[in-house]
Amino acid sequence: MAPDRTPSPARQERGAPRLAARVIRKSFAATRAVDDVDLALHAGEMLALVGANGAGKSTLVKIICGVAPADSGQIEIDGKPVHLRSAADAHAAGIAVAHQQVAIIPSLNGAENIMLGREPLRGGLIDQRMLRRRAQALADRFGVAIDLDRECGELSIGETKILDILKAVALDPAVLILDEPTASLSLAESRRLFTFLADLKRRGLAILFISHHMNEVFAHCDRVAVMKDGQKVFDGPVAGTSPAEVIRLMVGRTIEDTDWASHARAGEIAVHLTDCRVARLSVAELIVRRGEVVGLAGVLGAGQTELLERLAGSPHPARAAAARIGPLARLPRSVDEAIAAGIYLVADNRVRKALFPGLDVRENLMTGALAQLSRRGFMREAEERTQAKRVIERLRVKCSGAAQPVMELSGGNQQKVAFGRWLVRMDKAGGAPPVLLLDNPTEGVDVGAKAEIYALIRDFARAGAAVLIASAEFGELIGICDRVYCISHDRVATCVPRDALSEERLLLEVA
Ligand SMILES: Nc1ncnc2c1ncn2[C@@H]1O[C@H](COP(=O)(O)OP(=O)(O)OP(=O)(O)O)[C@@H](O)[C@H]1O
Ligand SMILES: [Mg+2]
Repeated sequence: MAPDRTPSPARQERGAPRLAARVIRKSFAATRAVDDVDLALHAGEMLALVGANGAGKSTLVKIICGVAPADSGQIEIDGKPVHLRSAADAHAAGIAVAHQQVAIIPSLNGAENIMLGREPLRGGLIDQRMLRRRAQALADRFGVAIDLDRECGELSIGETKILDILKAVALDPAVLILDEPTASLSLAESRRLFTFLADLKRRGLAILFISHHMNEVFAHCDRVAVMKDGQKVFDGPVAGTSPAEVIRLMVGRTIEDTDWASHARAGEIAVHLTDCRVARLSVAELIVRRGEVVGLAGVLGAGQTELLERLAGSPHPARAAAARIGPLARLPRSVDEAIAAGIYLVADNRVRKALFPGLDVRENLMTGALAQLSRRGFMREAEERTQAKRVIERLRVKCSGAAQPVMELSGGNQQKVAFGRWLVRMDKAGGAPPVLLLDNPTEGVDVGAKAEIYALIRDFARAGAAVLIASAEFGELIGICDRVYCISHDRVATCVPRDALSEERLLLEVA
């Protein structure tokens, strides 16, 4: 950090903004992703950029930081026009970004990733000790306890996200852009991030912060800009508006802060684990009944992902004194067996595990139902199209059509497709209500679509499904769960009943 390079916030704010985007426009075929947007960002200010999935936030960010060209418009730094033709141009102009998709190289270790492109040299070679020291100093300032010598491929998504942010900050930028930085962070990690950002702000950094979490926007940002269908529809101090108003501007309707719990009468036991161990997580007892939505709360990487994946047939090392899941009286031997038994998983991390990047929207939606559909042969095409259309409408997936490559969708819309796959599966499967295993299913999904997903989860539970959901967002668990198991010190410990659920309680339990 070189605070001397940065003008004091007060002095800067009176002059030209640190960063100004003027009448930026960008279209993809018939979609106008960014429609004549103006945005100004001042030194010492944190500006929130919000909008529904597909509103154009990430596209605007990519233009501002040189990775995608605008069709028209201009970027200015400290009042002077700049031409950003590459990410390197943007770095040189003092703009650093942590994109929505992390840009961490799995085969390098943490320190190497943080210092990538700015490795200290000594006698023409990379000075490994210096590199390690600089990376560690940065990690220490952020209070990051990640082992920087570990290969990043072995880290959790949350950990790689934090390294990606450190990497941006390491550039010592004047403008820092964070596209949904908290999407896969635990609450504790998010809190640490905000303390860190407040510090950077005091040093005069201008921060553009993209988030779907209104609590973060209103607790930490000075100003909020709202995008809808490519246009900026609001820009003002957070003090002059409210979360409900911002949501209305974003999604064009009000979202009631409803109680999404199923309140269904719990039925027979569908999942029962006794003295079970998956990877390093032990479970003395875990029960999910039909009609119930049961939560798994834990800090990121506490083992919830491995547990859910194992229950869905992935080959993580596991043993259990007794296990029952759906119709099986033991853990499933394979993913195929689990699917055939009506055990469905929405995996975390949409790109690495949940989606097929080379396929289009329809193909991705159908991958969950291949076994059921293939029996039908010639019916398949037409049926698939109808199915896909139904899911696209139900979850309001913003796409040009079912034939659009899934990688062209905005982040949140990709997650909706990942979720939509099990809707297709369930529609096809028929028979007994399934066991649904959901791992952070609404990561990056906007408030409007979240409400749709919560309503679907509730309806499936009411129809007799047994739902087990892990989420890094405790507010979400509190909103939809009948009970929440808490993971602490590698053990699934306390189970908190609905009427005792609160963020404080869950935080305490997972400590
Ligand atoms: N490479 C591309 N090709 C075609 N269309 C694209 C491409 N990139 C983005 N789009 C479209 O542009 C629109 C805006 O997408 P963008 O990623 O900017 O949304 P976003 O506001 O960041 O949404 P989210 O909250 O889901 O991340 C979407 O309709 C998206 O499908
Ligand atoms: Mg985005």
